[in-house]
Amino acid sequence: MKHEVPKALTIAGSDSGGGAGIEADLKTFAALGVYGMAAITSVTAQNTLEVRAIHDIPAEIVAKQIEAVADDIGVDAAKTGMLSNSSIIEAVAKTVRKYGFPLVVDPVMIAKSGAPLLRPEAMNTLIKYMIPLATVITPNKFEAERITGMKITGIEDARKAAKYIVEELGAKAAVVKGGHLGGNQSIDVIYYNGSYRELSAPRVENACTHGTGCSFSAAIAAEIAKGKDILEAVKVAKEFITKAIIYGLKVGHGHCPVNPSAWVDIPAEKFRIIENLQEALEILVSNGKYVAHLIPEVQTNIVMALPPHYARSVNEVAGIPGRIVRYGETIKPSGPPTFGASKHMARAVLTAMKYDPSIRAAANIKFDERIIEAAKKLGMTISFYDRRLEPPEIKSKEGASIPWGIEYAISKASGKVPDIIYHTGDWGKEPMINVFGKTATEVANKIVALAKILHNEKL
Ligand SMILES: Nc1ncnc2c1ncn2[C@@H]1O[C@H](COP(=O)(O)OP(=O)(O)OP(=O)(O)O)[C@@H](O)[C@H]1O
Ligand SMILES: [Mg+2]
Repeated sequence: MKHEVPKALTIAGSDSGGGAGIEADLKTFAALGVYGMAAITSVTAQNTLEVRAIHDIPAEIVAKQIEAVADDIGVDAAKTGMLSNSSIIEAVAKTVRKYGFPLVVDPVMIAKSGAPLLRPEAMNTLIKYMIPLATVITPNKFEAERITGMKITGIEDARKAAKYIVEELGAKAAVVKGGHLGGNQSIDVIYYNGSYRELSAPRVENACTHGTGCSFSAAIAAEIAKGKDILEAVKVAKEFITKAIIYGLKVGHGHCPVNPSAWVDIPAEKFRIIENLQEALEILVSNGKYVAHLIPEVQTNIVMALPPHYARSVNEVAGIPGRIVRYGETIKPSGPPTFGASKHMARAVLTAMKYDPSIRAAANIKFDERIIEAAKKLGMTISFYDRRLEPPEIKSKEGASIPWGIEYAISKASGKVPDIIYHTGDWGKEPMINVFGKTATEVANKIVALAKILHNEKL
């Protein structure tokens, strides 16, 4: 049995802005766990706003890049993106035919910014040479219209176009993408093996969509390289691109790019956070006899959030379900660190992150003047808020009190997130100290330091 990594090749243009083209494809390949290779067809001077210049690579150099990798490394599947002119298209078609690997054709014609990426005279060459070679072709609405000559305004038209591209033009499967079709769902129509499938995802409003088509077709190629069948590959690609759009990156001043790394980043970051929280719990528990004196009536929670561009809600913050409780002379976590397990502390840290994205962890301990004195001794920065000053409209709004208080305390500290924010309570509200830090272990160490000072003073 072979244990080699699957290998995928992108034959496409370079986007210097990193959002689309070869750059998006290689990020997608890496995120999906395949070895990525690249044959560059054109170099574009591009950012999120515009394409400033295009330099086409000579057709024979394009062919040579494909041959070089196919002869040595091997290609389990490839995709094409920008193929700027007829001679490049013909050279690519001839070389792909020679090796016979599965091919995803993304019939790129126009950049998100509106710049043409395919010369008008090359349109027919693309249809004639590339479509019959395509294992899967992935036109968007406009491309499907140009290829079929049909007007596409809805799913029915998309179905007709997909069928035409397969039955009349010779692709094995066609996916007519719904990114430009409107509606609150973005629906892609697949025609394959004589039948239709539809893949749907909620449309993300004002989304970062530079590079959606590139990453989507690269994801299909990656999954085919792993040996998945066409429908399964497109299904994974749809999930992949939906995540990449939801967590798009707000870079540049124009069409911001999708984030193909989200697919691996989020699970990887979650794993690191759980590990860090476990380590923090060990620090706290091994100092349990000191820390026990700092546990408030409502018990303690310690939380850590995903990095700011992934932390959208309390579900992206991990905490301790059932909190950390006093247990005889020491303390005990009621459960293992879990995402979504805290509301109060999660809101506190999400609010602090707005001011300082590096502060991703926090915990609550009981309020005691002596703890504040200890924090001063340790050189910690301190701010506070008065719950009695909380406006009634905030009080009556579910989940608004803590963000209000934290923002109040941070603005009192000139917009800097301090080590400690406390409040002295209100009717029915226990006074509390929140300890902030970059990681849960940092927060745990701060708490232990405070607890030890308190302990020594009592002796
Ligand atoms: N706003 C959105 N919300 C959810 N999914 C979207 C959105 N926009 C596009 N998609 C999905 O992204 C994938 C790419 O489709 P799209 O029609 O945007 O390709 P494209 O126009 O070729 O993109 P590009 O301009 O980057 O080449 C499809 O699966 C589509 O359904
Ligand atoms: Mg496209």
